[in-house]
Amino acid sequence: MSAASAPGKIILFGEHAVVYGRPALAVPVMQVQANATVQKTGEFSAENWADSVLVVAPDIGLSSPLSRLQSEHTPHPLAAVIQIVLQRLGIDRAPAFSVTIRSTIPVASGMGSGAAVSVAVIRALAGFFEHPLSDEQVNQIAYEIEKLHHGTPSGIDNTVITYARPVYFVHGEPIQTFSVARPFTLVIANTGQAAPTKESVGDVRKLWQADKGRWEAVFDKVGKIVEEAKNAIESGQTCGLGPLMDANHALLQELTVSSPELDRLVLAAKAAGADGAKLSGGGRGGNMIALVNPKRAESVASALKAAGAKNTIVTTI
Ligand code: MEV
Repeated sequence: MSAASAPGKIILFGEHAVVYGRPALAVPVMQVQANATVQKTGEFSAENWADSVLVVAPDIGLSSPLSRLQSEHTPHPLAAVIQIVLQRLGIDRAPAFSVTIRSTIPVASGMGSGAAVSVAVIRALAGFFEHPLSDEQVNQIAYEIEKLHHGTPSGIDNTVITYARPVYFVHGEPIQTFSVARPFTLVIANTGQAAPTKESVGDVRKLWQADKGRWEAVFDKVGKIVEEAKNAIESGQTCGLGPLMDANHALLQELTVSSPELDRLVLAAKAAGADGAKLSGGGRGGNMIALVNPKRAESVASALKAAGAKNTIVTTI
C-alpha cells in the first residue's frame, strides 16, 4: 500500500495577472488536505489493465473501473490523472490495484482541490510502483493535468501545493519561496458558489485580447501590489497588507472576476473590523480572504457567516 497527501492553497495576492507573467504570492493551507491511497487488489492485471484498476472517491460517490471512466465522452478528471501518471512512470502492465481519493478541500472554491488531488495521486502511485519522483517532476506532471482542466493556467496552484511552502511565483521562473517575518491571521470564507476558473481566466483573456494596453496596465498595478506585499511580509510590516488587499480586490473587480457574493463578503469582513479583504483564486465564486487581528478572527468569521458565507477557516500564515 502507498499513501500520500497534499494541502489546499490560497492566493494572497496577484491572481489572474500571474497568468500574464506578473508575480503572485500563494501559501499552502494545511488544515485541508487531499489524500490518495493505492492498494494492490490482485496478482495480475486483466487483458486490458484499465479494467483491473478500481478508482474510488467516496466523497463524490464514485467507485468504478478506470476503463469505464476513460471511455466516457469526456474522460473523468481522475481517470486523466491516473492515466498520465502511469504513462510518465512507463507502467503498462501491473498487478490489479485500487486508487482511493478523499479530500477535505472544498471543490471549485479556489483552494486548489484539483491540483491537490493530482499531487496526492501522483505521489501515491509513484510510491506504489517504487518509482521515486522529485518535487520538480511531481510539479511538472501536476501542471500537465492543470492544463487539461484550465486551458492556460499559470502553474501557481500545482507549485504551491507540490512544495507545500509559501511561494513567490512567476510563470516560467524557478520556484522562489518567501519568509514570513511576523505571523498574520486570515479568515478564509467560501461563498458556496463554484469558482469556474477556466471561465474567469478565459473571460480575462477576451478582455486582454480586445485592449491589451489597458489590461497590461492593470496587470502592472497588480504586480506592484505583489512586490509591496512581499516586502511587507518579509519585513514584518503586516499592517501594510490590509490596504494592499483592498487595492488588489478593486483591480480584480475591474477585471470582472468578482461577484455580488464576493463583494458582499468583502464588505462584511471590513465592517466587522478586518484590516483588508479580497477575493482569492479565480473568482466569480469560491473564496475570499480577510486580514484580521487574531482577537477579531472569530467575530469576523461570524459576520461573514451572517453575510452568507457557507464556511470559514481561520488560519495563521
Ligand atoms: C487560480 O487559482 C489562479 C489564477 O490566477 C489562474 C492561474 O494562475 O492559473 C486565476
